[in-house]
Amino acid sequence: MHRNRSLSYSRYLQLATVRLDGRPANRTVVFRGFMTKGDRLKFVTDQRSQKVIEIAQNPWGEACWYFPKTREQFRISGQLTIVEYTEHLCYQSWQELSEAAKSQFFWPDPGEKRSPNANFDPPDPISQQPPPNFSVLLLTPERVDHLQLRGEPQNRTIYEIQGHGTSKGRAVNP
Ligand SMILES: Cc1cc2nc3c(=O)[nH]c(=O)nc-3n(C[C@H](O)[C@H](O)[C@H](O)COP(=O)(O)O)c2cc1C
Repeated sequence: MHRNRSLSYSRYLQLATVRLDGRPANRTVVFRGFMTKGDRLKFVTDQRSQKVIEIAQNPWGEACWYFPKTREQFRISGQLTIVEYTEHLCYQSWQELSEAAKSQFFWPDPGEKRSPNANFDPPDPISQQPPPNFSVLLLTPERVDHLQLRGEPQNRTIYEIQGHGTSKGRAVNP
C-alpha cells in the first residue's frame, strides 16, 4: 500500500462472492483500511446490495488486488462478515467517509428499476449517525496468493493460515 500510495486507485480492488445460484459475482470496492487488531480488511457497503444477501448464504469471498506501480497481484480469500450499523465500528467508518460517499446511502434501492422521478438528494445535513442500510464489511484472510510480475522469472508465494493464526509462505511456480 505504501509503495503504491501515489496512485489513488490503488485502493480499488475486486471482491468476489458466490451468488445464490452458485455462480460467481464480482465487483469493485474501496479498501478502507485494516482493523487495528488482527489483519481483517475493511470495506463499507449498502445493506440493500446483492452482495449482502449472497454473504448471508455463503460467507466465502475473494479479493483480487493489483498494484500497477509495484506490479503485484494479491488474491486474498476468506470469510466475509457484515457489521450492523448500530456497532461502534460502523459509526467510526461513517465519520471517515466523504459527504459524496455518504450521500449514496440515501439513494433509492440499488438494483431496482430506475424511476424518472426518483429522489437522489441526501438529507441536509447528513446525520452523524450512519443510516440503517450502512454496513461495514470485513474480510478475514485465510489464504493469500501473491504474484510478483517483477523478476525474471516472476515470483509467486502462497500463504495459508495454520493453527493459531500463523501463516508461512510457500514459493510455487508462477
Ligand atoms: C471505483 C469503484 C469503487 C466502488 N466502491 C464500492 C464500495 O466501496 N462499496 C460498495 O459496496 N460498492 C462499491 N462500488 C460499487 C460496486 O462495484 C457495485 O456496483 C455495487 O456495490 C453493487 O454490487 P452488488 O449488487 O454485487 O452488491 C464501487 C464501484 C467502483 C467502480
